[in-house]
Amino acid sequence: RGAPPTVIVIFGASGDLTSRKLVPALYNLGLDSLLPSEFHLLGYGRKPIPDEEFQANCERDLEKFSRRPLNKDIWGHVKPNVGYHAGGYDDPKAFTELKERMLKIEKEAGRDLQFLFYISTPPSVFKPILENLGSSGLARHHDGTDLASKVIIEKPFGRDLDTAKELNRIITDQFHEHQVYRIDHYLGKETVQDLLVLRFANSIFEPLWNRNYVDCVQITVAESLGVGTRGGYYDQSGATRDMLQNHTMQLLALTAMEAPVSLGAEAIRDEKVKLLKAIQPLRLEGENCDAVRAQYGEGLIDGVRAPGYMQEQDIPQDSSTETYGALRFSIDNWRWQGVPFYLRSGKRLARRVSEIAIRFKQPPGILFSDPTRFDLANNTLVIQIQPDEGTTLLMNSKIPGLETRTQAVKMHFRYATTFGSNTPEAYERLILDCMIGDSTLFIRGDETETSWGLYTPLLESWQELGRKGLQSYPCGSWGPLAADKLLWQSNHEWRRAG
Ligand code: BG6
Repeated sequence: RGAPPTVIVIFGASGDLTSRKLVPALYNLGLDSLLPSEFHLLGYGRKPIPDEEFQANCERDLEKFSRRPLNKDIWGHVKPNVGYHAGGYDDPKAFTELKERMLKIEKEAGRDLQFLFYISTPPSVFKPILENLGSSGLARHHDGTDLASKVIIEKPFGRDLDTAKELNRIITDQFHEHQVYRIDHYLGKETVQDLLVLRFANSIFEPLWNRNYVDCVQITVAESLGVGTRGGYYDQSGATRDMLQNHTMQLLALTAMEAPVSLGAEAIRDEKVKLLKAIQPLRLEGENCDAVRAQYGEGLIDGVRAPGYMQEQDIPQDSSTETYGALRFSIDNWRWQGVPFYLRSGKRLARRVSEIAIRFKQPPGILFSDPTRFDLANNTLVIQIQPDEGTTLLMNSKIPGLETRTQAVKMHFRYATTFGSNTPEAYERLILDCMIGDSTLFIRGDETETSWGLYTPLLESWQELGRKGLQSYPCGSWGPLAADKLLWQSNHEWRRAG
């Protein structure tokens, strides 16, 4: 997989994501000889920093955050091509200077280079950056070659349907859709990519993957961390905008979509959009309301007292931001009619675990109906995204002995056991794919809008309600009682995840 010669510019170079994920991802690609031989990195930010200081910052980040130890020889080789460009995001002059600097790099390389812009800033400056890329001539088209400029845009991709549409419009004013890579790092996770293989390369699952056999699907993305120092961002966002609308929804789309006609980017993305379009609007009121939101209160995490959301740094005293959301989606298509898809995500839950659980229906209860001897579990296929990546199948077995009694047992496949534990991080895969020009694992414009179409009425109704109806759960629990009740309505229960 060879990437063309590239200059990558990271907007938001002093941000957390750059330090923790982007710089380590680029370095690890270098370690695996996956960076092009001609490769340059420019950090872009408002604060003036000399090149040498930025290089030293990157080195410190690598020592702290790289999944593999820093190899000074390899880093020494890349370091001279790492630089920093200071400028405002709304300053056309700074973009003209950036262009001159990039063209100089290109001239010195003696060949055409791909220009890749990674926008990892707060969303408030997405617009000026995109407009300045366009007006300075940095959004090069080079049609028909792989040297056109490309742009990667971090989440959040808008706040609602209108802002997502507006952002798509601004992007497509400057770039063609094939140059645009809307990132959702969950799609770069190994286990998420494995979903297509699990579903479509194994003949035992595919025939059962529908309303005839599946009782419900539960998707959990739980974190034990709180908002930490990100209160300012998080309070504007909440669990729904931060996780449910994007990461969790991607898991739903890949779990439920039809088989694509090929593994090509458009084929897969077409199926995801088709699926999203079949999802019914959430019911927002009354007994059958499909949504629950809650905020964490004080509680114990691993035996240590943790503060409630309202006591966290930078959280306004009247905040109605949800740190937990649970939703029930109905998909009105041939495959899934009548099968509830439950989604939940939250901070400060009992444990960090992301998983997709497909719960199958029970067989007819004729043979094993005596509850004193048989406790039959529903067969459940659990795809564990993280940590401890793998797949588990829950089934029923006879307990050895002279009597016929049953017990639920588990069949495990663990990535670490089979393949070793040093798998690439999501950002490595995604940045490489973008350099190469493979947009399969990125989100298309129409997909963002379809997904926001489902979430916008919910967010608007919560905003109107303020704190009314907002539930609470203690840190270290599995969420509010109201989320359990949501499932009880249809005789289901949340799985004990992990
Ligand atoms: C980010 C969210 O997109 O994903 C964070 O903004 C969250 O709030 C993070 O913690 C979770 O990512 P991962 O890969 O650790 O599950």
